[in-house]
Amino acid sequence: MVKTSSKKANPTIFLIFGGTGDLTNRKIMPALYNLFLDNWLPENFAIIGSSSTAMSDEKYISELLNAVNQFSRSGKPKKEDWASFSSHITFQSADITDAAAFKPFGALIEKYKKEWNEPPSIIYYCAVAPRFFSIIAENISKAKLENDPKTTRIIVEKPFGNDLESAKELNKKLLSLFDETQIYRIDHYLGKEVVQNVMALRFANAIMEPLWNRNHVEHVQISVTEQIGVGTRGKYFESAGVLRDMIQNHLLQLLCIIAMEPPINFDADEVRDRKVDVLKAMRKIVPRKVDVMSARGQYSSGWIEGKEVVGYREEKNVDPDSNTDTYAALKLYVDNWRWQGVPFYLRTGKRLSKTASIITLQFKEVPHNIFITEESGTPKQNRLVISIQPDMAIRFQLQSKIPGLEMTLNTVDIVFDYFGNKKTDSPEAYETLLLDAITGDQTLFMRADQVEAAWELITPVLNYWEKNKATDFPNYSADSWGPENAEALIAKDGYHWFNLPEKNKKG
Ligand code: BG6
Repeated sequence: MVKTSSKKANPTIFLIFGGTGDLTNRKIMPALYNLFLDNWLPENFAIIGSSSTAMSDEKYISELLNAVNQFSRSGKPKKEDWASFSSHITFQSADITDAAAFKPFGALIEKYKKEWNEPPSIIYYCAVAPRFFSIIAENISKAKLENDPKTTRIIVEKPFGNDLESAKELNKKLLSLFDETQIYRIDHYLGKEVVQNVMALRFANAIMEPLWNRNHVEHVQISVTEQIGVGTRGKYFESAGVLRDMIQNHLLQLLCIIAMEPPINFDADEVRDRKVDVLKAMRKIVPRKVDVMSARGQYSSGWIEGKEVVGYREEKNVDPDSNTDTYAALKLYVDNWRWQGVPFYLRTGKRLSKTASIITLQFKEVPHNIFITEESGTPKQNRLVISIQPDMAIRFQLQSKIPGLEMTLNTVDIVFDYFGNKKTDSPEAYETLLLDAITGDQTLFMRADQVEAAWELITPVLNYWEKNKATDFPNYSADSWGPENAEALIAKDGYHWFNLPEKNKKG
């Protein structure tokens, strides 16, 4: 076994702004609890939850227990485990817009420092609406809360800005108060197990590199399809749309990991430099090319797994004439020596037929095909399919002879399936990311220039879509694979969108 890092946590104070919110309940607290269960947290650690309404520690802890019961991958906590974990939790109410209300945090930090008698790492977590990120950062500074660059970190959730301008502004503000090495911008896709493994697959296996380029790869597809609709997030979605919500961050980060050059080492900045190189090499999408390089859609009503679901325009807090995209597809190019001419197709959407995040590299046809016969047809091209979720597997699709007296070919899969049916053994993305923030590893977090470069790439599309309203919305029904224009985007190059191959599928 080769271990590349050891994640040893110092004493830690973890202060969550938005401590009663949805993110804390669904992701942060279950992640912290599982890190605790798996012995990743240090003996001296304290979680301070904060929100505007006052409540007792007991009430707060019992609300968190409800959340952990519901959302923890390891199921409902045992009584003694929860008692032990929750003894580290305190609640402190504060109006985050008022610097004076931050004083009690200072007192709590001092209290723990004295009690532990060793300097802790301090994590300020902004699990709040984006408009509060800079206000919190400012008030931490005004209230003179601890801000030692070596031990203090601030975690900022997505969305990081709403466009290039606002992302730059937010970066400027944060960087006037914190050092870049203290800022942890979350993109939770980077914490997913299989996503991290792409680096291992590419850079720890000598057979990959010779294949991983324009000489062998015909095209790449990155597809994140979701069955869920916008649910209770209509208001947010109206101001975002799926291009901002998913492509600007998650899908472009996946593209970077696939397209990046080998880093010299596994240092956070080295890895992130190589990813920024990819974003800088992306071909600009000029306004006159938007229509040929993108497709957008919005879902109408339909049936998902036997249940009738409403169309996007009928969702709560959504304008009945909304022009917001709930589906987006892009065709992109990375203009460098490795990838010149290889199209990267990205698609994502809500209320689609299946939930699946997959990356497919389709390799070129064999240079000369000796197997074409009327009966067997043309052998299929090789594919490497990296499925991130819900299946966690890497499969190579090869052509092989079907055993028998005739020479008949069939597709076979060489599959590395991570956990089979035991997916709960896999840490959640937030566990990985929170432990990295606690131990001070920024590799899986977004740096200022990465975020800005990603905004720069998609801003022309956003602007064009804003100016040129879609006239055909809604243009795909729930439980479909998206709008026809997205099929056309890829079909005009002679390809079609790949869905996850069925397990052990033959043919
Ligand atoms: C979030 C988006 O960042 O990622 C959501 O805001 C989306 O709209 C979610 O549903 C998908 O994450 P996951 O981990 O469920 O694939």
